[in-house]
Amino acid sequence: MKMTRIFVAALAALGLSGIAWASTAGQREAEHFHWHNAGPFGTFDREAVQRGLQIYQEVCSSCHSLDLIHFRNLGEAGGPFESAEFPNANDNAIVMQIAAGYMIEDGPDDAGDMFERPGVPSDAFPSPFANPQQARGSNGGALPPDLSLIIKARHHGQDYVHSLLLGFNEEVPADVHVAPGKHYNPYFPGGVIAMAPPLFEGSVTYADGTEATMEQMSEDIVTFLTWASDPHMEARKQMGVMVLLYLFIFAILVYIAYRQIWAKVKH
Ligand code: HEC
Repeated sequence: MKMTRIFVAALAALGLSGIAWASTAGQREAEHFHWHNAGPFGTFDREAVQRGLQIYQEVCSSCHSLDLIHFRNLGEAGGPFESAEFPNANDNAIVMQIAAGYMIEDGPDDAGDMFERPGVPSDAFPSPFANPQQARGSNGGALPPDLSLIIKARHHGQDYVHSLLLGFNEEVPADVHVAPGKHYNPYFPGGVIAMAPPLFEGSVTYADGTEATMEQMSEDIVTFLTWASDPHMEARKQMGVMVLLYLFIFAILVYIAYRQIWAKVKH
């Protein structure tokens, strides 16, 4: 009796995994890439973060917000425009210039009206849409997610977003139905995404003269978003190394102390 039950349960589990497998037709796991910031000693490639910021500003920001990042973060330690000249990021000339390029809604003023003014380093990146309803309305009902933490919010975040951005030009498998206004992308769960391919060869002209190939742009925006999702990564890793070093030295001292204390005890 017990054996039959186990057998039935095993069959059911097999059946379920079969259904799960069938429903993932046309989908693929993210490819694996090498990242400058990976591993316990990995750091951010500053230039890549700067180029990624340019991609965000010129391409992604028309649909995606970046709510958790303030302009001053760009000039803080570990940020793309960190500078010894300006220990206080609010005084950083490049950061001030970037912030001033945005109009920020502020107020109310003395008359109770909202008004617009140029951005300052303490402002956050403004959202492209006034509210989620408006964002959905402009995107065929789909909500472009905030990108501040997207790398952390997805499994294998960097590899996933890089694969996703490069995964648009694939032939649609016969068993995948792509509704009008949607796009096939094997890396997106379900295989059909409401985002049109955002990047094309030469979508931007890089300020630093780097050639704007698809791979380059995708790698740069992913590096920027990785920094955005973990701006203090470098300090955190340095602290980790210091802690390990401290524990190592401490262990040696404890061992010497132990030898001294027990040296007096006769066997
Ligand atoms: C024209 C508007 C538009 C632009 C421009 C755009 N996106 Fe999107 N994006 C969307 C929409 C809409 C979705 C939601 C898709 C869905 O839910 O099917 C989305 C979803 C995403 C997702 C989430 C995928 C997931 O796993 O949920 C990522 C990551 C993303 N976009 C990255 C980017 C990046 C990076 C850029 C700039 C290079 C960019 N997008 C430019 C509209 C846009």
